[in-house]
Amino acid sequence: MNRRKFISQATVSTAGIGMATVLSPKGWIAGTAPSDTLNVALIGCNSMGFGDLQNHLDAGGVNCLSMCDVDENVLNKRAAEIGTGYGQHPKLFKDFRKMLEMKEIDAVIIGTPDHWHCLIAVNSMGAGKDVYVEKPMANSIGECNVMVKAAKRFNRIVQVGQQQRSGFIFQKAMELIKSGKIGNLRKVNIWANFDYGVGESIVPDEPVPAGVDYDMWLGPAPVRPFNRNRFHGSWRHFWDYGGGLMTDWGVHLLDIGLWAKDVVSAPDRVLTYAANTFHEKRSRETFDSMTVTYPKADFVINWDMTAGLQQGPYDMSYGIAFIGDNATIVANRSKINVYPEWDEEQKKLRAEKYAFTEGTESHKIHARNFIECVKSRQQPACPPEIGRVAALHAHIPNIAARVGEPVLLWDDANNRFTNSAAANELVTPIYRKPWELPAF
Ligand SMILES: NC(=O)c1ccc[n+]([C@@H]2O[C@H](COP(=O)([O-])OP(=O)(O)OC[C@H]3O[C@@H](n4cnc5c(N)ncnc54)[C@H](O)[C@@H]3O)[C@@H](O)[C@H]2O)c1
Repeated sequence: MNRRKFISQATVSTAGIGMATVLSPKGWIAGTAPSDTLNVALIGCNSMGFGDLQNHLDAGGVNCLSMCDVDENVLNKRAAEIGTGYGQHPKLFKDFRKMLEMKEIDAVIIGTPDHWHCLIAVNSMGAGKDVYVEKPMANSIGECNVMVKAAKRFNRIVQVGQQQRSGFIFQKAMELIKSGKIGNLRKVNIWANFDYGVGESIVPDEPVPAGVDYDMWLGPAPVRPFNRNRFHGSWRHFWDYGGGLMTDWGVHLLDIGLWAKDVVSAPDRVLTYAANTFHEKRSRETFDSMTVTYPKADFVINWDMTAGLQQGPYDMSYGIAFIGDNATIVANRSKINVYPEWDEEQKKLRAEKYAFTEGTESHKIHARNFIECVKSRQQPACPPEIGRVAALHAHIPNIAARVGEPVLLWDDANNRFTNSAAANELVTPIYRKPWELPAF
């Protein structure tokens, strides 16, 4: 869709929206030319997707034309909030395929669990919509590959929700590293310790709650009895839908480690230790402890994750230490500190101290970046190629952990592991009929 087509779609759709949008207390700049409005739709409304929608509406000049969720309790609650908060009254759907028939929709925000990202994103792109898809870009390597190809084939703007790329703190870290302030970057140490990563206490299966289309929630994943621990929020601890802390936080933080040296390729070798060391059995398939090493051409990235804790190095539950010859930068989403080395010969610090500890926002900037790119047709801060590479750095150690293979060798050109047949079985999920992984 070029700029002209964007304008014509926006003009047509705005005409059909009526006064409610114009009177909205928030999210609408009075007098915004119709050609500058963006019509968005949200699929998956419970938590992050809803936050993403609000961030888009807060940018101004954005209409929410429709919302879709397979849980009508979530759908009705969130739609009411958009009515109260923004004076907008989107059309509601339980089936995203019906929603995608709305020609007026310019862009779709995807806030479903990970196992749905690929199918919904590719269908949205095929229907001519640009896509803001939450991270991890998909729940498998194979699905990430399909999404990258689909974005190219359909010529769509795709922003992956790795919003740390849009925030001040990690941009500042990149500036310090890339301008040579810490000398040669030798190592990136990442840690992520979160209580929630151990999962919930075990509860029995139960009937599907009223108002939930559970079959549609499962979608391409295998059929299972309903259990609330495998549903809203806590699905992320089960392989069919997510990848635990490794993908949840891994894609965010590994992405920044890769960005430090502009690594845009998949890992070719990953060394993984994974175990369950938490004292209690919880409702979870994913591992609670993982230590992963990614050797790169001229540096190394180390990942260390312990679920069930909320404390870590530098008094941070999660963070990144960029270790250079002249200084170490330590950063997370709310603070950054530079710790210079002491030069004994020169009797002075080898780098300048720097600290910023006030916390910054990145979600809204990331949403605004997407909106701008939809209009300009420029690549956004986190295009699918970047989302894919970050996701592969999380999926490969998860596969290693699942098949019990401490070293995995990945041949990206041929989309296969060269040293494990068992690992190759987990590259692409087998979709439950009638769902089919789009072929490209
Ligand atoms: N960028 C970030 O910092 C960040 C933070 C949290 C979560 N996330 C990501 O956001 C996504 C959503 O996570 P969450 O915690 O909000 O999950 P959630 O379980 O709270 O919400 C998911 C919603 O999607 C709905 N859904 C499921 N299948 C659907 C379908 N086929 N059609 C329509 N709706 C469907 C569910 O009913 C639910 O309301 C995940 O991919 C997660 O990794 C990103």
